[in-house]
Order: sequence, then structure tokens, then C-alpha cells
Amino acid sequence: MKLPQSLQATLGIGLTLGVILFWIAALLSAVLIAQNKLNELFDSALAETAQRIMPLAVVEILNREVPGPPQSIAAFKAHDEPLTYLVRDKAGTVLLQSHNADPSVFDTQLLEGFSSSSTHRFYGASAVQDTLYITVAEPLTQRQAATLEIAVSLLWPLALLIPLCFIGTWTFVRRSLRQTLAYRDEIESRGSGDLSPVSVHGLPTEILSIAESVNNLLDRLRRALESERSFTANSAHELRTPIATALAQIQRLQQEPSTEAVKDKLSKIESSLRSLSCLSEKLMQLAKAEGAGLLSTEQHDLIDLLKLIIEDIRRSPTATVINVSLPENDKFMSFVDPDAFAILVRNLLDNAIKHGAKNQPIAISFSPQGVLSIINAGSIIPADKLSQLRQRFVRYNPLVQGSGLGLAIADAIVTGIGATMSFNSPAPKQDDGVEVYVDFSALIN
Ligand SMILES: Nc1ncnc2c1ncn2[C@@H]1O[C@H](COP(=O)(O)OP(=O)(O)OP(=O)(O)O)[C@@H](O)[C@H]1O
Ligand SMILES: [Mg+2]
Repeated sequence: MKLPQSLQATLGIGLTLGVILFWIAALLSAVLIAQNKLNELFDSALAETAQRIMPLAVVEILNREVPGPPQSIAAFKAHDEPLTYLVRDKAGTVLLQSHNADPSVFDTQLLEGFSSSSTHRFYGASAVQDTLYITVAEPLTQRQAATLEIAVSLLWPLALLIPLCFIGTWTFVRRSLRQTLAYRDEIESRGSGDLSPVSVHGLPTEILSIAESVNNLLDRLRRALESERSFTANSAHELRTPIATALAQIQRLQQEPSTEAVKDKLSKIESSLRSLSCLSEKLMQLAKAEGAGLLSTEQHDLIDLLKLIIEDIRRSPTATVINVSLPENDKFMSFVDPDAFAILVRNLLDNAIKHGAKNQPIAISFSPQGVLSIINAGSIIPADKLSQLRQRFVRYNPLVQGSGLGLAIADAIVTGIGATMSFNSPAPKQDDGVEVYVDFSALIN
């Protein structure tokens, strides 16, 4: 599978490679042009030297009284001699030569004009009706060294250009992508319940149409979810009155004299109506948990809210002992909606009371860092089952009545406000039981 690539890295590497290739192409053509010009200059210097030396050599040779062995022109001062020459007669006999000349590098043929061997460039000229020939030789290494020097001097800036080009492109692309990265961050930082349009301000035109399409999609999704939620909430709300009426009538019927069989049936109907009433209540809570409005505009102290909820539960008819451990004189301020927080804690406490071992205390704690922990005794829930409990209508304890929506409601609230919920079974430092803990620490501003 092809991994996604960073636009910044792709552009940085691509543009740097492009600049390097163009630089090398420009360097090659500059070196070729310089080489041609150098050859022309060196050639003209070679020809000029031959033309200058020739008359002097002719006078020197003609003035000799007796033709003798080849004469080597002594140097005035020791010096390097890049140009060497031979003056030969028609038969190729050397009559005169420069002090450093090596006759073996010269062609035995007497050529006029320019010629080259693998090591030297030559220029030949004749005088005195083609009886005297001068050949000037210049080693090719000089021209090669000059060309190399030009190439190296043009190559050096590349060492500086490569990092500069890469850093420059990187910075420039990063600046250009600033708004796009801000757009990405805004989407990333959203809770799953936030479907409001994302700001498209300052986005480049290439991304703008995508961002607008995403906003349209979010809008359609929000409307679809809202209509689903309002349907659930309205249906549950509409069911309340008929269920309450039916329950009242059943209770009236139970007061009237009847046989044991009829009483038994009436109590079964009453129990079914009660679970139906619970289900409609849970459906309304689920609609709220999955909707917007889980965060309020004002901050509230969650520890204070927790105390109120625990007091309320303690007042209700339950034999379970609740041990509370809250930080002294400490507050945990958060934008969580108090109603949503109450629904969350009530569902978790309701589970601990309902599914925990009877006559065993429940332990509630809230740490200063914002971790709520609720521990109850009871049988261990296997890890594979534990991970499925937050799904809708999933229940592990069929002996106790319930609709299987409590943890789904808690999970929707926790996800919607940006907190996390986890389960441990057995509870920490115990052999059995269940711990549910909700981490609100991410909500601290
Ligand atoms: N604190 C707990 N201790 C032991 N078992 C638990 C605890 N909390 C949840 N469970 C198990 O997880 C299952 C799912 O819980 P959930 O709250 O979703 O549904 P419920 O309590 O059965 O019904 P409802 O809450 O809708 O009335 C429960 O049936 C129970 O078996
Ligand atoms: Mg429950």
C-alpha cells in the first residue's frame, strides 16, 4: 500500500531536485562554451608564438657559418616552459629547439596549421620557400586544468544552494499551508458530537471547494441526526403519558377483589409496564446524550455536582452503603452540562447498585486530577464481555431487570464531552468486582 506523503516534503524534495538538475545543465553548457572559447584563445596564442619565433629562427639558422648539430636555445633564467618548439628542415632534421623541447612528442611529419596528439596541441608553419618548418607544441593538460577550474568554481555554489533551496521551499510551503493546517487542527480537535460548520476562512482555492463540500456534508449529517434524535425523544416522551395511565389503572385494578390468578397476571402486566417506562426514560436520556448541548456556556464544579447526586441517591430507598472519597476544599471546574453529568453519574451508580453484590458497599472517588472511579463488589466480568458492555442493548446480567442502555448513554456523554471511560474487572486491589472510571482530565482548560 502506498503511504500518504507530506505535500511539504514532496515539494521540498521535488523543487530542490529540479533546481539541482537545472544548475547542472546550465553548468555543463557554461563549461562547454568556456572550453570552446579557451581553445580559440589558446590556439591563437599558439599560432601567434609560431609566427613570432619563425623570423628569429630563420635569421639564426641562416647566420650559421657551418651547419652543425641542432642548437638548443638556452633559457635566460630557469623557468617553466609550457610552449616548446622545434625548427626542422625539409628532411625533418632538427635545426633549432627550445631548451625544454622533447622531439619525441612532435609528429615526424611536417604539418602546417593546427593538429593534435593525445597529449599535445601543435601549430606548424613554414618559411624560406618551405625549406624551414617550425612546430610549436602546447601540452593539453593546461586547457584541461582551466576547464576543470571553471567547472569546480561553478559547482561550489550548489553545495550552498541545495540546503538553502530545501529550507526555503519547506518554509514557504509551510507558510502557504498555514490555513490548511489550521483547518485540519480544527477538525481534529472537535468532539464527535460537534457537527457545526468548520471555518473556511483563508483557505487556498484548491482546498476551499473540498472544505465547503465537507461543511455541506456536516450540515446534512447534523440534520439527519437531529431528526433521528428528536424522533426518539418525541416518541419516548409521547409514550410516557399512556404508560403512566396504564400503570395507574393496573394499580386501581389490583386494589379490587380478584382471584390469585388474576392478581398474578396484573402484577406481571405492572412489571412489564414499569420496564417499558424505564425504557422510554432511557431512550430520552440516550437522545440527549447523543445530541448537542452536552457542554454549557458556564463552568460548573463537578465535585459539588457529584455531592448533590450522591445525596439524592442516598435519600432514595436503597440499602447499599456508598463510601465517598472526594478532595477536601477542592474544585474541579468544567464546561460539562450539569444535566448530562447527572445522567452519566446516575447511570454508573445505578449499575453499581443494581449489578454489584448485595450488602456490599460501593466506593466512589473523584481525584483532584479529575478521575471519577466507582467500584462495586460482585462477580468478575471476562475481558471480552467487558469491552462490549457499552454497546446498545448489550447486557451481561440477565437476572436483573434493565434495558441495556445505561452504559451506551454513559459512553455517548463521555465521548461527546471529550472525556474517556474504562472498565476494570476485577477491581484494582480486589479479587472480584468491577471498577468504572471516567477521566475528565482532558477537560481542564
Ligand atoms: N457496575 C457494574 N457491575 C457489574 N456489572 C455491570 C456493572 N455495570 C454494568 N454491568 C453489566 O453491564 C451490562 C450493561 O449495563 P447497562 O447499564 O448498559 O445496562 P443495564 O444496567 O442492564 O440496563 P439499563 O441501565 O438500561 O437499565 C449490565 O447488564 C451488567 O451486566
Ligand atoms: Mg444500567
